[in-house]
Order: sequence, then C-alpha cells, then structure tokens
Amino acid sequence: MSGDGRVTADVTDNSHCEANRQPITIMAKATFRIWRGNADGAEFVDYDTEVSEGMVVLDAVHRIQAEQANDMAVRWNCKAGKCGSCSAEVNGQPKLMCMTRLNDLPLDEPVTVEPMRAFPLIKDLVTDVSWNFKVKEKMKPFTPRPPDAEDGTWRMEQEDIDHVQEFRKCIECFLCQDVCHVLREHDLHDEFIGPRFFVYAASLEMHPIDTENRLEELKDSDGIGYCNITKCCTKVCPEHITITDNAIIPLKERVVDEFYDPIKKLFRVFSR
Ligand code: SF4
Ligand code: SF4
Ligand code: FES
Repeated sequence: MSGDGRVTADVTDNSHCEANRQPITIMAKATFRIWRGNADGAEFVDYDTEVSEGMVVLDAVHRIQAEQANDMAVRWNCKAGKCGSCSAEVNGQPKLMCMTRLNDLPLDEPVTVEPMRAFPLIKDLVTDVSWNFKVKEKMKPFTPRPPDAEDGTWRMEQEDIDHVQEFRKCIECFLCQDVCHVLREHDLHDEFIGPRFFVYAASLEMHPIDTENRLEELKDSDGIGYCNITKCCTKVCPEHITITDNAIIPLKERVVDEFYDPIKKLFRVFSR
C-alpha cells in the first residue's frame, strides 16, 4: 500500500515474463452521494463503488448506473469535454462530469453529484435546458454585409477575427448560466438571457462583418443591467472564455455609449 492509502496491485499473471509486468493502481472504494428523483420529489442516495487511477466523475456515475442503479438518468455524449452535455454540480461546484478527475477530489468523504440548479429537473442528474435554446432563437442572427469581393468573400483584419474567436469556443454546457445568481437565485429567466448569451451576443456584435445592432435588446429584454460583474460565470467556464471582461463589460460599455451618452441622447431627440 502506498502512503496515500491507494493499493498498488500487480494483476499480470505472466510472471515468467518480467518485461510484460504492468503495475495497476487501484484506489479504495469511494462514496458518491447522487441526487435521485424527479420534479415531484428527489433526495440524495449514497452509493459505494470501486474507483481507480485516472477515473473521472462520469466514470464513477456510469459504474454505479451499470452495477447498482440501472434506472439512473445521466446525460452525456462525448466524454471529452466538447459536447457540453454532462454538466452537473460536483461537491457544489458547476462542472463537466467527464472532465472532473477523482484525483482532484477528497475521496475520504462522499462526493456529491447533483443536477444543475438553474433549470427544471427532469430526472436524477438530467435537467431541462430547453429555455436556453428558446433564448437563442429570439436573438437577432448573424447578418453579414455584402461580400467585399466579386468571388463572394470578405476582407477582415486578423486582429478583429482573433477578438471574436474566443467566444466561438463555447460548448453550450450552460455551467455559466447555472452559477449566475440572477438565474440561479433570482429566477429572472424572463428578463435576463444569462452569460452564455452575452457571449453569443458579443460574438455577433463584435464580428467585423456583422451589420445588425442588438444594443436595445441587450439593454431592455436581455437584461444586461442585472449583471453586477461578479465574474462567477468566468470562473466556471470549462473553455476558459473570459466571459465578463471580454464579452459582458464591452457590451455594457456599448450600451452606455449608445443610450446614456449625453451627446448621442441629444442627437436622438433632435433627429426624431
Ligand atoms: S458576472 Fe454577471 S453574468 Fe456572470 S455570473 Fe456574475 S452576474 Fe451573472
Ligand atoms: S460560455 Fe463557457 S460556461 Fe458558458 S455555456 Fe459556453 S462553454 Fe459553457
Ligand atoms: S460528455 Fe461531452 S462534455 Fe462531458
């Protein structure tokens, strides 16, 4: 046994061949406290399961599903941090289950795994995130100016493209929506689109060939004023998008310039 409580076992049986020996590290059992139930009632249920080196939370949940709880609902697709499906709250933190290594968690106490709280529960770890897709549908789409060249292509500065490229890394995991207190605690889903869609709005508003203006919506129906720049969304983003500094604050500045700049205000009054 190693100093940290893990057991190192040689599971190879070909002792005649020393070169083939592959030591495999097996860790002790761990307890996973998983949220089970639906909108009519749910509670934590403890499951003890074997865990081993290299496992992520999603592996443990799958093992529990296979061996002890066949009816447990969990959403996932890629197991590579790219589809954004396996979002949950692990030990109270919004995380992708497939990217959360057990090595990084204290396994001497139960690991809690819960569904995201900002969205309605469907079953166990699966929430209904369809509100997000409805928000996106309502936003003004990408509206490029006519092509710059006869062959139908545009000319852009690399610097301008680099600026919006960060926003395109979003995998729509909605962890930023989950952690945002405006949605999570104040439930203002009708008045606030949330950080994911400020990132989307920024990707369009700052795009060098987009011609649409979304500032009025951002100020009114999208509720950008509710964001008080706590930066919680930036901290949980698995794609490390600098949501607040690079998307929300510049959008807020544009809204202020457009609607609260005294000279522009005067111009609007006289141009009516
Ligand atoms: S910075 Fe704004 S959008 Fe992000 S979590 Fe805080 S209040 Fe929500
Ligand atoms: S901005 Fe980041 S946290 Fe939010 S949905 Fe996109 S990838 Fe997920
Ligand atoms: S399963 Fe795709 S991001 Fe986790």
